[in-house]
Amino acid sequence: MLIKKPADIPSSEITPQSAYVSRRKFMVTAAVALGAAAVACNKAAEMASPQKAEAAAAKLQFTRNSALSTSEKPNSLKEISTYNNFYEYGTDKSDPAENAWKLRTRPWTVSIEGEVKKPKTYDIDQLTKLAPLEERIYRHRCVEGWSMVMPWLGYSLSNFIKQCEPTSKAKYVQFVTLQDPEQMPGQKTGVLDWPYVEGLRMDEAMHPLALLCFGLYGEVLPNQNGAPVRMILPWKYGFKSGKSIVKFRFVEKQPPTTWNISAPSEYGFYSNVNPAVDHPRWSQKTERRIGEFRRRDTLMFNGYAGQVASLYSGMDLRANY
Ligand code: MTE
Repeated sequence: MLIKKPADIPSSEITPQSAYVSRRKFMVTAAVALGAAAVACNKAAEMASPQKAEAAAAKLQFTRNSALSTSEKPNSLKEISTYNNFYEYGTDKSDPAENAWKLRTRPWTVSIEGEVKKPKTYDIDQLTKLAPLEERIYRHRCVEGWSMVMPWLGYSLSNFIKQCEPTSKAKYVQFVTLQDPEQMPGQKTGVLDWPYVEGLRMDEAMHPLALLCFGLYGEVLPNQNGAPVRMILPWKYGFKSGKSIVKFRFVEKQPPTTWNISAPSEYGFYSNVNPAVDHPRWSQKTERRIGEFRRRDTLMFNGYAGQVASLYSGMDLRANY
C-alpha cells in the first residue's frame, strides 16, 4: 500500500490466488487446544518444515450476530488467507501465507497500560473468553482499492475496555502489535517503523462495531490474518485493523499510528472509508471485490454510515482523513 499505485498492481495480484496458483496447496494446519498452552500455526503444505501438521485448526464456539452482519456472500477462506497485508512477513500479498507460520501464538499475553485504574496483563486464553464470541460478517475495504467480505469471530472491543477501567483522562486507545524480528522477519527491514501501532478515539473504540477478533470461519485466526488477536474496524480502511496485538495503551493525546508516521500526507489518523476524499495518488470512488472483475462504488464509511456517521458529526472529513 505504500509503494504500489493501483495501476502498478499486476492482475495476478488482483485475481484470487486460487484462480492461478496450482503449485501451492494451502492447508490450514493449526494444532491448538484453547485453554491450554498450545500453538496455533498456519502453514503452507510445501514449507520447509520438518513435519506436515495434519491437525485441524481449533474450532471456536460462537453465535452469529445477524444484526451486525452484512448479508453479502463472504469471500472464501482461501481468498481471505492467501491475499494479505502483514508487512512483518513481507510486502507481497502472498508473503504472509508463506511466512507467517513463524509466528508463535502461545504463550501470548496482552497488557494494559497508561490511563487505567490498574495496569493488568491478560493471557490470550483468558482474553478469548472474556465475553461470548460472535460471528460478524463484515465488509473490508483496503485503502489500495480492493475489498472482501469476511466472517470474523470476536466480541465488541467495548466489553474489554470496560474491564480495563480507563480513567477519565483516557481519550484515546493505542494498540501495539508484536515486535520480535526473529518471528517476524519483515521487522529486520526498514519498510515500516516497528512495532505496527494503531489507535482510536475512545468513542470510536466503544462503538459496538469495533471488534476484538480471535477467529475466522469458525476457527482460530490463521496466523497471516493476525493471530492470536487483532482489531477489526469495518468502517475504516483495513490498515487501522492492527494484527497480533500485545498491548493496549490508554492515553490522553492522539497516539502515533504506523501509516501516518510512514506517509503523513497519505494516511491520517481517522482513515474512515470515504469515496469523496481521494488518496493523493489514486481515487477512492470505486473498489474491486476480490473474486470479481467489475468495480463497485465505494460506500461512505464502507456502508456503515447509519451506525457510525454520528461519531464524526461536525468534523471536516477532508481535513481529518
Ligand atoms: N497489522 C500488522 N501488524 N501489520 C500489517 O502490516 N496491515 C494492515 C492491517 N493490519 C498490517 C496490520 C493492512 S494494510 C490491512 S489491509 C489489513 O491488516 C489486512 O488484513 P487481512 O490480511 O486479514 O485482510
